[in-house]
Amino acid sequence: MYRKVTLVIVSVVIATLYNCTTNTIDEVEIEDLPPIVESVTYDDDVAPILNSTCVGCHSGPSANAGLQLDGYANARAGVEQGNVINRINNASNPMPPSGQMPPENRQIIEQWAADGFLEN
Ligand code: HEC
Repeated sequence: MYRKVTLVIVSVVIATLYNCTTNTIDEVEIEDLPPIVESVTYDDDVAPILNSTCVGCHSGPSANAGLQLDGYANARAGVEQGNVINRINNASNPMPPSGQMPPENRQIIEQWAADGFLEN
């Protein structure tokens, strides 16, 4: 009986530790990606990501946290002033709340800001 309990506890501890390891790896993934060489634009690259992942909760008069991310001007203002890059990369309090986007998508948004917010 005690052996079984010990076994269960040990398994839970191992599973938890394993989870921590994979989370840590996830945080450094953007740096591990090859740099983006083509220019990143709102129309081609950023809009598809924000529209499918964020706009459902972040648009219109009842946008969550008052943050609107629909359309070029709102998206740009959100990234410039709205803490967007911090929250998409925040593994413990991510946006979207359901979990971090793949590093490829987060890299596109960071590169868009670094390139000076090209529209098209
Ligand atoms: C399911 C709804 C939902 C989705 C999808 C969602 N958000 Fe949010 N977002 C919220 C809520 C609720 C808050 C306020 C609570 C909080 O800050 O955690 C928030 C807060 C934020 C904040 C903080 C605003 C501030 O003033 O501090 C940012 C930045 C943000 N979201 C960006 C995003 C981005 C970028 C995406 C898409 C990648 C996204 N959110 C997707 C619901 C959502």
